[in-house]
Amino acid sequence: MSNQAPTQAKPTTEALIKLFSYYRDAEMRGATLLIKMMQRDKNPQTQVLFSRHIADETRHAWLWTQRIRQLGGFPVEVPDGYQRRLGKALGIPMDVVDLFALTVIVEERAARRYREHAASPYCDAETRALLDELTNDEKWHISWMDDWLTKHAIERGAEERARTQLARYRRIESEIFEEFKDEERRWLGFSFSDADGSPVLAAG
Ligand SMILES: [Fe+2]
Ligand SMILES: [Fe+2]
Repeated sequence: MSNQAPTQAKPTTEALIKLFSYYRDAEMRGATLLIKMMQRDKNPQTQVLFSRHIADETRHAWLWTQRIRQLGGFPVEVPDGYQRRLGKALGIPMDVVDLFALTVIVEERAARRYREHAASPYCDAETRALLDELTNDEKWHISWMDDWLTKHAIERGAEERARTQLARYRRIESEIFEEFKDEERRWLGFSFSDADGSPVLAAG
């Protein structure tokens, strides 16, 4: 190749529908986990924050559903989505501090992945506008979850455990996400999380 122009063909509509179905699934399962957390956490202030957060995540799932419909498709089944893989690798924690630590890691990933996708030269304008909107919400999600992780940990004398769990979840989550990127490269020929958006499978 004589220049830096992308050599990879644009992703097909079918591949995008599959990817957006994975995003939709992650948002919906994220909301499901938050509902379970809200039922365990009896604090009146977090009840308010959880309610707003759950409303955001179900709305995000709906926005992905709408985007899929705009592309002329329907959501496809996601038997092995991000949250399921994470659940298999970690088990679902029962403790409030562990649950908050896990959610912080998941929210950080969502925000980062949406930013990476929006920055890709393969991202179309409509999807970019949606990703930017979602990324704004994800920032608030990380911030309130992080604050309350600290508050709950201090209340329980579990600050050290919170730090250990964050590091452990971060390490395992990142292995799972790397696997997901490999699969994405097989579907699309590249991953939207590849730093410069360049096709990793392109011949040299
Ligand atoms: Fe979300
Ligand atoms: Fe979120």
